[in-house]
Amino acid sequence: MSSLTITPAGPLKGTISVPGDKSITHRAIILSALAEGNSTISAYCRGEDCLNTMRTFQAMGIQIEERPDGLRVQGKGLWGLTEPRQPLDCGNSGTGIRLLTGLLAGQDFFSTLTGDESIRRRPMGRIVKPLREMGARIAGRKGGEFAPLAITGSRLHGIAYDSPVASAQVKSCLLLAGLYAEGTTHITEPRRSRDHTERMFRYFGIPLREDGLRLSVQGRPSVGWTAKPVTIPGDLSAAAFFIVGASLVPGSDVTVTSVGVNPTRTGVLEILTEMGANIQLLNRRDEAGEPVADLRVRAASLHGIPIGAERIPQTIDEFPILCVAAVLAEGETTITGAGELRVKESDRIATMTTELRKMGASIEETKDGLIIQGLGATKTKRLRGAACTSYGDHRVAMSMAIAGLTADGTTKIQDTDCIETSFPGFESKLLELLTKNG
Ligand code: S3P
Repeated sequence: MSSLTITPAGPLKGTISVPGDKSITHRAIILSALAEGNSTISAYCRGEDCLNTMRTFQAMGIQIEERPDGLRVQGKGLWGLTEPRQPLDCGNSGTGIRLLTGLLAGQDFFSTLTGDESIRRRPMGRIVKPLREMGARIAGRKGGEFAPLAITGSRLHGIAYDSPVASAQVKSCLLLAGLYAEGTTHITEPRRSRDHTERMFRYFGIPLREDGLRLSVQGRPSVGWTAKPVTIPGDLSAAAFFIVGASLVPGSDVTVTSVGVNPTRTGVLEILTEMGANIQLLNRRDEAGEPVADLRVRAASLHGIPIGAERIPQTIDEFPILCVAAVLAEGETTITGAGELRVKESDRIATMTTELRKMGASIEETKDGLIIQGLGATKTKRLRGAACTSYGDHRVAMSMAIAGLTADGTTKIQDTDCIETSFPGFESKLLELLTKNG
């Protein structure tokens, strides 16, 4: 089990890129595998989560090759998957397992899906329940609440589903199942979650109706879609660690190039800007139906703000690093309506509270959020280096590393192999920014 040792080393400076967006990479692999013909997915995320999705398609007869110019996927059309001989291992990926369950429910073969210890603790009832309403035959631990899931492919029918949670994984799972169902599948979510599936459907020319928060997809289309090259934008959720690091460490000036700035994901930029951060979006453009920009961030003094339920979906993965920003801001930050954080790779409300307290932060859990009293930008009140752990959660590991950059003394984070799930090369990117000092 590896660890990461962080010793504060002055400002972060320079221009870097980050891995391709993890969410978009999953979707690009799935829709390319179901397309007719060969696609190249360039700048894709090589994190373990996406590689596991790639491997599941290879196990279902899709040829996928990692080449220098990208991932080469030989799509076999909507009905081209074949029965896998072994259980499909989604590793740590909630997106992988939930999207695949939707896709596999309507196939004409049997499959099982599983993942690591964290995945086997995460709620699957939120997808199993509506899929069963569509006619899916899914068995799993605790009545289908937990993986492993065994899926006996069956003939699905469209339903109209009002999701109780704003979840892109639930929405995307049902849209994929809907492609195989008789009739139309409608899904409505309470607030808009990330819309990468919708954008990629449109990019590939897959018909999708959108009416406010209600999406409708026609099942069993008579014509499929043709393969297309996809360029994946940089992952804003990965860039967020450097954006917060550069905001907090005095004298920093960092540019992250080609980052996805899809408005259903940019909560972190809006919240940080409201807290006083200095973030510029430069060179805005579009890639494969997704907005992209270069982000320049310079150090600034931050202040606390209230963050309410309406801002959670577009910021969902950035709360661990936003906690670090809040702990070092002036005044109070409150986060409410964020109960979903308790069912991520770890219970992020509990894990961030425990770990930041070890460094001297004033942070308190509530049922569905956090109350943080920031230290402010004084020289006297600072975090202190500590022995921390990640709980196997990649975003907790990287957030604690950034917290360590602002502390007195050394911070050691245990159990950091998990960083590989989304951000291979995180440590070397951080070193690159630290060595460009002066
Ligand atoms: C994701 C959706 C989010 C996010 C996850 C990736 C996706 O989950 O937390 O890291 O790719 O669809 P929910 O929208 O299901 O909460």
